[in-house]
Amino acid sequence: MEQNQEQEVFSMPRIGDAAPEFKAVTTQGDINFPSDYKGEWVILFSHPADFTPVCTSEFMTFATMADQFEEANCKLVGLSIDGLYSHIAWLRTIKEKIEYKGMKDVEVNFPLIEDITMDVAKKYGMIQPNEDSTKAVRAVFFIDPKGIIRTIIYYPLSLGRNFDELYRVIIALQAADEFGVATPADWRPGDDVIIGPAGSCGSAKDRMDDSEINCQDWFFCTKKLDKKTVLDKVLKKK
Ligand code: BEZ
Repeated sequence: MEQNQEQEVFSMPRIGDAAPEFKAVTTQGDINFPSDYKGEWVILFSHPADFTPVCTSEFMTFATMADQFEEANCKLVGLSIDGLYSHIAWLRTIKEKIEYKGMKDVEVNFPLIEDITMDVAKKYGMIQPNEDSTKAVRAVFFIDPKGIIRTIIYYPLSLGRNFDELYRVIIALQAADEFGVATPADWRPGDDVIIGPAGSCGSAKDRMDDSEINCQDWFFCTKKLDKKTVLDKVLKKK
């Protein structure tokens, strides 16, 4: 039989969809998703399995950056197809024994969902059977305060995520919403932003004439947006 034949078809939520709803048991108590997170950004991410090295390095990194994400009004929620007691034992082991890249004594305070039944993983297309039929791939869903999926990134089992990129995405999504702009390749706060395409000949001309907008041609226009303005809007006041 060919690979792919007679495989169960799993749903794959898409950008712009409402985040599929679920109730789950986590290491921080029960959650009702996404309604418990209304009004906040949330990153829902899956990892293949507890007690595995790449996942351990990822959890230590995410936990170390949790305050940074919190400051950006973003909660973290993890998931793997393991049970609650495995999760608890793994997170305790990380705190008590694992030292990695200067991180040690790392406490994971964000919820880690138990998903032995794979119900949640299947709803979110986290099981990709040609990669592995019983382990979730490294999926990352960025969900906005209204519960809408705004960005999805998938990584295979062998590739640990880039957490600077995940943080960049959460800031860029919020900056785009707050300032009605788009963000160009490799954008970081302080870089120029993109003005969306002109919708009429009149607006194409207006933007070419606007001294605050730098148009190389009518369809490629940028403007300055300084770092402080972005961060003042996106980051919570301390
Ligand atoms: C890991 O996290 O180290 C891992 C998990 C599943 C497959 C390969 C690596």
